[in-house]
Amino acid sequence: MPDCIISIPKLLHNIVKCFRGIFIHQEALLMADVRPESLKRITTKAQADEFIDEQIKSIKAQVGDKKVLLALSGGVDSSVVAALLIKAIGTNLVCVHVNHGLLRKGEPEMVCKVFRDELGANLIYVDATDRFLDLLAGVSDPEQKRHIIGEEFIKVFAEEAAKLDGIAFLAQGTIYPDILESEQGIKAHHNVGGLPPELDFELVEPVKYLYKDEVRVVGSALGLPAKMVYRQPFPGPGLGVRCPGAITRDRLEAVRESDAILREEFEKAGLAGKVWQYFTVVPDFKSTGIKDDKRAFEWLCIVRAINTTDVVKCTVEPIDYDLMCRITDRITHEVPGINRVLYDYTPKPTATVEYE
Ligand code: XMP
Repeated sequence: MPDCIISIPKLLHNIVKCFRGIFIHQEALLMADVRPESLKRITTKAQADEFIDEQIKSIKAQVGDKKVLLALSGGVDSSVVAALLIKAIGTNLVCVHVNHGLLRKGEPEMVCKVFRDELGANLIYVDATDRFLDLLAGVSDPEQKRHIIGEEFIKVFAEEAAKLDGIAFLAQGTIYPDILESEQGIKAHHNVGGLPPELDFELVEPVKYLYKDEVRVVGSALGLPAKMVYRQPFPGPGLGVRCPGAITRDRLEAVRESDAILREEFEKAGLAGKVWQYFTVVPDFKSTGIKDDKRAFEWLCIVRAINTTDVVKCTVEPIDYDLMCRITDRITHEVPGINRVLYDYTPKPTATVEYE
């Protein structure tokens, strides 16, 4: 993994579950957080309901009538934290959803629909697409791309926080594996200076003793849509790492559209939720093809679908031939600029999951 790999999960120990490890809160690292032995593994709705009731009481006791800020990425952990806090303190929770322009098709809309329209959240939506894409223009080094995205994310979030009055707490979707990784020092070397002082609020971390599967059970019990609760992992730098080389708006759009087609076809084929992670990549490389009886010198699109338990080793999903033909046909005919589709048969190792 590159040294500057970033995840919002750990970012604001990290603000949101997005960029792996640029900023780690020193106090959080020093705190020996240990999952209480009395906390039974949450596997049923009844256990989740009990956990939710306890957390609502403890959130109310911790924050009283003060305001709490949360960076809501739309990932499972920050979404569950948002839903829990909305139940506990309603509009005293201020959610900020930053769209860095590298999200998947329909994602910012889903966050706004679920949280603002259905749950009545006090949600600030920031479309920072141009800011990010302008900064990334011409940058081809993967580590530099990650740094730019991580740093700009913090800046945008801090700017929004500075506009708000009376924020006393920062909520985070820290989960137990994040604490274990921090304590083992796995992420500590990523620290490049901690949080900006204006974000140094007291933390509210209601799911910090839960494992991912438990967070999902709690999310379902809170009524969050299955699409959100069982969402496949998505890297903090988003589609930016699936648009290798310098990101251009047209190629990024080709990644977003081909990814949407792949997700739609996997869902129709009953593979969503069964295959661990699947996505498309559009490298900065063109090949000759034919479209409308004319020579078409266009990009190729790589489809990747992998299975794993620990992401240290991954196997490749043995994708059905007819399904692959359907996906190829749709991508080459529906996505402008793509004339060829390839399937990546490489396990991890030797390949990593992502291309950058
Ligand atoms: P790799 O490519 O390292 O990916 O084999 C392993 C898992 O990590 C995800 N990934 C990231 N997640 N920020 C993240 O939050 C990142 O910068 C990042 N890079 C890779 C990847 O999607 C896979 O699930």
